[in-house]
Order: sequence, then structure tokens, then C-alpha cells
Amino acid sequence: MTLSGKRILLIISGGIAAYKSLDLIRRLRERGAQVRPLMTAAAQEFVTPLAVGALAADHVYTDLFSREDEQDVGHIRLARDCDLICVAPATADLMAKMANGLANDLASTVLLATNQPVLIAPAMNPAMWAHKATRRNVASLRSDGIAFIGPMAGEMAESGEAGEGRMAEPLQIVASIEALLDDAPKPLKGKTAIVTSGPTHEPIDPVRYIANRSSGKQGHAIAGALAHLGAQVTLVSGPVTIADPAGVNVVRVESAAEMLEAVTAGLPADIAVFVAAVADWRVAAAAGEKIKKKPGEGPAPLELTENPDILKTIGHHENRPNLVVGFAAETADVISNAQAKLARKGADFIVANDVSPATGIMGGDRNRVRIVSSEGVEDWPELSKAEVAERLAARVAERIAGKG
Ligand code: CTP
Repeated sequence: MTLSGKRILLIISGGIAAYKSLDLIRRLRERGAQVRPLMTAAAQEFVTPLAVGALAADHVYTDLFSREDEQDVGHIRLARDCDLICVAPATADLMAKMANGLANDLASTVLLATNQPVLIAPAMNPAMWAHKATRRNVASLRSDGIAFIGPMAGEMAESGEAGEGRMAEPLQIVASIEALLDDAPKPLKGKTAIVTSGPTHEPIDPVRYIANRSSGKQGHAIAGALAHLGAQVTLVSGPVTIADPAGVNVVRVESAAEMLEAVTAGLPADIAVFVAAVADWRVAAAAGEKIKKKPGEGPAPLELTENPDILKTIGHHENRPNLVVGFAAETADVISNAQAKLARKGADFIVANDVSPATGIMGGDRNRVRIVSSEGVEDWPELSKAEVAERLAARVAERIAGKG
């Protein structure tokens, strides 16, 4: 529970994106946060205080001049009795009030009176977001120390227009809140890391490719865990359907050749962790046009050629990172194969796992790994992929500290 005991004052202002705020309340509470909701008058035109209050399991504050609320909590206490204020959605109107210090309703008054960090998730029509007045207000709010998440590009719910202005998704807002409230030690501060993750897609022709079952879950979790310890992380990811980890710079690639190029472009780095399930082979000459069936002829043969080994290339590179970690996906002789890979690929650690179908590791949420290094073999119990990532990041931090 990453937000255990944290008190979030959630200000909902009036936009259609307010429907997503209901889910945001659930996601925050799932992580152990207490959510105290405050709604503007306009917000109540989009979602009801009844729904918001039920999900938050708290009273919903709506009125600056409510005698009961003022006696009970009061707007100054409301502004300060929390660890963070999140405004989601933040309308152009409320942002304009904030930027200019207006205080003519409960939301704007609380935002002017607070001494706590404030995160806003803007949501508005793309033309309103692009307007000079909004640009000025955004610049003022940033220089006042207000944190932003989004808006994102995409299709608008109301008008069907596309552009920048959609509110960030609830889980992205949650990740920003977690990052803002994170006071954990940062042993990897000042260090840079490159992580590869996911499968690669090797084209056969413009519409077909060779791929594998890697989900990217383990690699993405490791990138996130290194960032959480303060490293500046570049995640080079093959095609995956999972969300980007928080606080990480993501470079998206498709093939092994592109992955190697992106990794090399990321050097020099202090740490490199190679988690991607890189295809060992690609089609020697991918067709420029879709390959057609020819009546009476069998399938076209596929001639394969070997892909570059990214880990091995970087493990022996003149700019080799201080610490190089590889993975070994095996279905038999796990330890001896991992030991061979350690030497052959120039890695400091190999994280070995058994990916036989019966283990359910490939694509699943759990993992059981062994850490193979020159110092021996360490057996870890079965853990979630997030836990494996945290432990491995801690291991990397220890090793980096040891190496000075
Ligand atoms: N790897 C890589 N580039 C490749 C192949 C593998 O960077 N072209 C990396 C993987 O990211 C992983 C490690 O090498 O960290 C081992 O991958 P694995 O598939 O287990 O090993 P292979 O070298 O492919 O050996 P084999 O398939 O023979 O087991």
C-alpha cells in the first residue's frame, strides 16, 4: 500500500472528465490513502456528491459558506489538514483563478490558503488549452511550484475533437501523487541506467512479424524500481500493451536492431539491465510488399539470420556500464546455462528463471529467480514481479555503492 495513511484532498472541478475522478478515488483508497473530496458547483453538474462521498467514504465539501462545515472543519483546516491537494479535473476556469489568486468559492479559497503540495490534472478543450491566456496561467502556476500531470493528447469526450486536453488517466495521476509524496532514500541518485524490456518484433513483410510471449512486466517493473531509488532511467521497450512505469524515459522500438541502436545511443550509463526477450533470429530479407499466396505453390520459405546480441555487445563495449545485468530464460539446466551466459556475455549478474510453460512466468505476474554471479548462486523465493524488481534494484544499489 504505497499511499498508506496519506491524506489527499481531492478537488473536483466542473468538466466531463469528472467521471474519471470517481475511479481515481477508488485507486487512491486501494493504495491506502484517505480521500477527502471537495466539489465545485460546476462539478456537481457532472457527477453527484452522493457518488463521490460514497466512494470516498467521507463527507463531500461543497460550500464556502456552509455553517456546519465551517464549524466542523473550516476552510483553513481543509486546506492544511492533508498531505497533498490534487485537483482533477482542473478546468481552465479554476486554473485561471489559481494563477491569479482569486478566492471566491470553496475550491479556490482552499487552494489559496494551503501550504501543502498541489498537483493538478488539467482537462479542457484543446483550443482552450492552447489559448494564450491558458498558456500564461500554466506558466504562472508552474513557477508557483504547482505540479502538473497531463493533459494528454487524444479524442475529447464531448466534441469528438482531437488534440491536447484530455485529463490524464487515474493510474497516471496516482503515480504522480506517489512520486510527489515519496520520501524514501535515493541511493541511486545521480546514476544513470538503461533497461531493455518486452519482446522484439522481427518483420517478415509489412504486415507480418515474428514475436514471442514476453509481456514486458518484469523489465518495466525493474525500470520503475531503479527510478524509485533515484536513478535516471531510460527504458528501451519492444512492443507491449502495459503502461509506462512512473518517472522513466521510455524509448519505443520494434526490432532487435532498433533496440541495439537505442541502447547504444543511451551510453555512457552507470547501470544496464537487459530484460528484453530479444528475438535471436530475424528474417534475412524482409519483403517490402505483403507476401501473397500463389495458387498451387506451398508457403514461401523464411530464411533466418542471427540478430545482434545486445547484452553481449554492451557487456564487451568500450563504454561498458559499471554494472551489467542480464537475464537467462531457460527451460532446462537453468544454473549451468546461466553460468555460461555470465561469462560469454560479459555480465556481472545473470538473473536466471525457468520459463517452462508449467511455471506460468512468461506473461504472468509472479517470478522465481536465481541470481548467478561470480560469487555464486542465490535462490530467491517465488515473488511478484514487482517484488523481484525492488529486490534487484536494491541489489544493484548495494553493488554500485560497493564499487564506489
Ligand atoms: N539478449 C540480448 N540480445 C539478444 C539475445 C538475448 O540482449 N539478441 C539478452 C537478454 O535480454 C537476456 C540475455 O541476453 O538478458 C539472455 O537471453 P536468453 O534468451 O536467455 O539467451 P540467449 O543468448 O538467447 O541464449 P539461448 O537462446 O541459447 O538460451
